Amino acid sequence: MIKFTLNGTEVETDAPATLRLIDLLRDEFQLIGSKEGCGDGECGTCSVLVNTLVQNSCLIPIGAMEGAEIVTIDGFCESEQFKLLSECYSEAGAVQCGYCIPGMVMASAALLSKNPHPTEDEIREGISGNLCRCTGYNMIVDAIDLAAK
Ligand code: FES
Repeated sequence: MIKFTLNGTEVETDAPATLRLIDLLRDEFQLIGSKEGCGDGECGTCSVLVNTLVQNSCLIPIGAMEGAEIVTIDGFCESEQFKLLSECYSEAGAVQCGYCIPGMVMASAALLSKNPHPTEDEIREGISGNLCRCTGYNMIVDAIDLAAK
């Protein structure tokens, strides 16, 4: 049995330790906000926070999650920080097709929690693990910059 905290609630699972976290989240817990894109650690659409660090859930076997604190976009969207980021993404026109956005928002949250007033270079570094297939990076950077003000 693997136990961890998921969006603020203690949970446990008897799923195989090698199961990918993205599959556990989506299939067992029906938390479908985190998307699978590449399935290979390249695109960041599956990003979640693990112990406050942004991580690709497609690369994590759940056996490594014992005792971890995991936050997904599904839980994060209840927070005041999400409300602010949502408003700033909207104001900056940062959402196009939207597929990358859950991962981008989690990367934004991780960045701002460590560095509340990042420079543009720091913002670009903070989202460097997340790909936007619409290539709308400038608006996403603007959105994070707005949220930091
Ligand atoms: Fe996990 Fe692309 S689906 S990084």
